[in-house]
Amino acid sequence: MAKVVDVRLTVDGKARELAIERATVGNDGVSMATLLRDTGLVTVDPGFMNTASCESSITYIDGDNGILRYRGYAIEDLAMKSTFLEVAYLLIHGELPTEDQLESLNNRVARHMHVHEGIKSFLGAFPRDAHPMAVLSGAISALSTFYPESVGRGAEQIELATVLLLAKAATVISYLQRRSTGEELIEPRQGGHYVDEFMRIAFSNETGEIDIDPTVSRALDLLLILHADHEQNCSTSTVRIVGSSHANIYAAVSAGIGALSGPLHGGANEAALKMFDDIKASGDTVEQFVAKVKDKAEGARLMGFGHRVYKSYDPRGAVVKAVADDVLAKLGGSNETFDMAKRLEAIALSDEYFIERKLYPNVDFYTGLLYSAMGFPTPMFTPLFALGRMPGWIAHYREMLADPRTKIGRPRQIYTGEVERSYVSLDAR
Ligand code: CMC
Repeated sequence: MAKVVDVRLTVDGKARELAIERATVGNDGVSMATLLRDTGLVTVDPGFMNTASCESSITYIDGDNGILRYRGYAIEDLAMKSTFLEVAYLLIHGELPTEDQLESLNNRVARHMHVHEGIKSFLGAFPRDAHPMAVLSGAISALSTFYPESVGRGAEQIELATVLLLAKAATVISYLQRRSTGEELIEPRQGGHYVDEFMRIAFSNETGEIDIDPTVSRALDLLLILHADHEQNCSTSTVRIVGSSHANIYAAVSAGIGALSGPLHGGANEAALKMFDDIKASGDTVEQFVAKVKDKAEGARLMGFGHRVYKSYDPRGAVVKAVADDVLAKLGGSNETFDMAKRLEAIALSDEYFIERKLYPNVDFYTGLLYSAMGFPTPMFTPLFALGRMPGWIAHYREMLADPRTKIGRPRQIYTGEVERSYVSLDAR
């Protein structure tokens, strides 16, 4: 039953009733859309801790109870029973695909996995040690110049761009993996399973042949599903705000990749593994490292811990941890690091600092261990997150475009600078 809410705001003695926007589940909202016009006041909410920027029917999170659902389906069910392209279809179109719909998406994506020769030259022009997130962001933006027929806000263009983004992102990321090890690029083949083909062009020898271990393929599929969407996070909000200016989907997703690269967001998977390595190299015990984090003196954070929305366990982290034992056992990953991560988690979860701030492991705490065991070098972790998040970014761009209430994203500010000054000429300063 909807809560009965009556929100009034009294400014200069005049009371106004504020409209309530109802959610199907979760927080209802108080509409502030006409506040400035009606009162001359603006709302202040740094970091948008308390601001709903849009209505969305894609993903629901209950951060207090560790619940994540895509289009109403529990993440645990999707992770264990579904495949990445199936989930991509669900996020983008709102329903699970039929067999025919899934096959059609699979085929369309597979047909478009090869990339223009110009993109290969473009990738080759970056310094070999360039961070792959920077190259990925540039490459995705450049897709608009190589595939102009998919640029625009029309339904057919968006449909084509959707398929191209899913397809080309996989190929570009696999090429970034090959470049990191100095290997020649491999041509994608048509008709394969999306994740298997990604693994093949990322890891095969120059003949293009490789035996994909089903355990690895399934684990990567599962990780991509876990990353596929997360409602209005930093990169998705970036995609929406860039798209709100009517910039094309490639420009918006490229900006989202930039946002994702930060260590407080997707870059945390890379930062977490680096943290484990740094602890080992420093000779500190896990307890000593936790003490440094709590001390805050060196600015150290426990990377892969904490979340703006989850105030109990991140359900994605729980799924990763549950499969990590099995996958690492089969792949021969670093059990030493996994054991250290589990010890770090156990200490943090029983420590008052973390308990009172409700800091739990998030999805990025354990994923790096799995990517590493699969053979990806550390800088490739965040591009893999980007590959997983692609359907979410696409779904949100499309939802933003279809929503008649969308306006250009343009926040206000509280100005705190000089009020007014007279210009002083250069020779008089
Ligand atoms: N280690 C130590 N202290 C922390 C941590 C952490 N990882 N995260 C938050 N805190 C402390 C923070 O210092 C603050 O303490 P105090 O109240 O004494 O000032 C309190 O907890 C609240 O933190 P906040 O920074 O105000 O919280 P936020 O909601 O603005 O930030 C966060 C959320 C995810 C950026 C933050 O928890 C963090 O920096 N975590 C580490 C980076 C990370 O793992 N990011 C991945 C997030 S999940 C995947 C994704 O979004 O891509």
